[in-house]
Amino acid sequence: MDSVHRPARFPLAIIGAGALGLHFAARLAAQGPVAVVARNEQRAAVLRVGVDIGAQRYVPDVFAPEDAPAADWVLVLVKAADTTDAARTARGMAPRGVLSLQNGLTGEMLAAGCGAIPADQGITTEGAFRDGGRVVPAGAGETLLPPGFETVAAALVAAGFSARVEPDIAAARLAKLLVNVAINPLAALFRVPNGALLEAPHRGLLDALVDEAWPVLHAAGLQVDASAARARVHAVATATAGNRASMLQDVLAGRRTEIDAITGTLLAMAAAQGAELPTHRAVFTLVKCLEGRAVASS
Ligand SMILES: NC(=O)c1ccc[n+]([C@@H]2O[C@H](COP(=O)([O-])OP(=O)(O)OC[C@H]3O[C@@H](n4cnc5c(N)ncnc54)[C@H](OP(=O)(O)O)[C@@H]3O)[C@@H](O)[C@H]2O)c1
Repeated sequence: MDSVHRPARFPLAIIGAGALGLHFAARLAAQGPVAVVARNEQRAAVLRVGVDIGAQRYVPDVFAPEDAPAADWVLVLVKAADTTDAARTARGMAPRGVLSLQNGLTGEMLAAGCGAIPADQGITTEGAFRDGGRVVPAGAGETLLPPGFETVAAALVAAGFSARVEPDIAAARLAKLLVNVAINPLAALFRVPNGALLEAPHRGLLDALVDEAWPVLHAAGLQVDASAARARVHAVATATAGNRASMLQDVLAGRRTEIDAITGTLLAMAAAQGAELPTHRAVFTLVKCLEGRAVASS
């Protein structure tokens, strides 16, 4: 967008110019101005030239965090470990609300960083991944937003996404966490696409992770019974059989994973309930070892 036509206050902004942030931004920008905030000015300068999102060339209106403009609504799409930095940026943009669509439970961290500005977490099963400098959309999904974010839901629907406000967003977040604690670490550890987790020898571990997580998540408000929990995880692994889970992509790229926000969150919930989750503890430790190896060799 020509800077002459750049609004003083954007209706929408996205912090995190990665796979999902650019995927959402490209579609939303066809409907109205969207500010994109990248990690730094160097990254923003690269993106200003344009980026391929699937078959589309998208030239984002992109800013460094220190230059982030005012915006009505801010979406946070950085990895979980960068949430506090993103919250600081969001706060400076003086929005009406800040919405995370990250994996793991990051809402409390985000709200702590946003101070008096309303901040909450939804979930999305939209998919996208980075392939070199371009972004590849990896299948349409559904986005559920907390009450209070009706304007954002309407903008997403206008841009062609399947999106709605979910009154019981806490239960929806727990259902997504259940899927993530089962599929993500195993896919990363065994370096297999999601569908392979349904086959021996991985299947036993997948089911063990679901069965161990279920009582903790159920006590926290997950609204499915134990057998439905298994069925849900199996259905996601089947529907995404050919996909590489994000934690596997992170491990293969030598990046830090979101294991703290995913399995780490579950372990903290279990500890608060006085429960031990030995299989999740082992998986957590193994993924941390993989991360350590990636850091040591970089
Ligand atoms: N991709 C998916 O299909 C998908 C689906 C559902 C949920 N999610 C969740 O969505 C979140 C984002 O995932 P992703 O796949 O889009 O990750 P990603 O490709 O790694 O994108 C994150 C982006 O945030 C940038 N960033 C980091 N710190 C920042 C900061 N302080 N300010 C502004 N930008 C910053 C990163 O910069 P650099 O490029 O410099 O690292 C990166 O470009 C994650 O929580 C993920 O679990 C992803």
